[in-house]
Amino acid sequence: MALRSHATINMKICLKLLTVVCFSVLIKGEYQLKDLEFNFKQGDPPPRIFTAEQIAEYDGSDPKKPIYMAVKGVVFDVSKGINFYGKGASYNALVGKDSSRGVAKMSLEPEDLTHDISGLEPDVLKALDDVFQGTYMAKYPVVGYMDYILDKYHDKFVQLKEKVEL
Ligand code: HEM
Repeated sequence: MALRSHATINMKICLKLLTVVCFSVLIKGEYQLKDLEFNFKQGDPPPRIFTAEQIAEYDGSDPKKPIYMAVKGVVFDVSKGINFYGKGASYNALVGKDSSRGVAKMSLEPEDLTHDISGLEPDVLKALDDVFQGTYMAKYPVVGYMDYILDKYHDKFVQLKEKVEL
């Protein structure tokens, strides 16, 4: 009798644990990275398209050049954050490239200084969207886009080009 009730209690605990695990998986779910919005106005200079080599020229090593960094393929002029991003500053490793993975993971490890965000957990992807919107879009001017997002946003780029050139 004592054995049976022991087994029943164990089973109940297991069921409870299973419910908790299922519930947290449901809550966590998948996270769909937000699509980019293109908010250029008529008369704005046409956005520049950067290759990896081109953006690398703006890594803060030349004080006469602005400092550029890309997140989610959007290139920002982060020159006013020179204390973060200038030569020798804490986050200098992030600039002159698209460091989306590092920004998402809050990592400055060389292997994370890339635009490749494959395999990241939903909460890390959400963090990337939050920093993209809350820091970069809020603080720094957009100066262009990385060439590798051209395919995905081809139609939007065509509309954008027509709009700024009207
Ligand atoms: C001990 C670890 C860290 C501390 C104490 C720290 C602290 C801070 C603080 C206080 C700020 C806000 C500064 C301000 O707005 O005036 C900041 C901003 C920031 N941190 Fe960190 N941080 C750490 C590590 C990292 C790492 C590993 C990354 C890697 C990506 C990172 C990326 C950033 C970025 C991108 C900003 C925004 C800079 C901007 O406004 O342009 N941080 N950090």
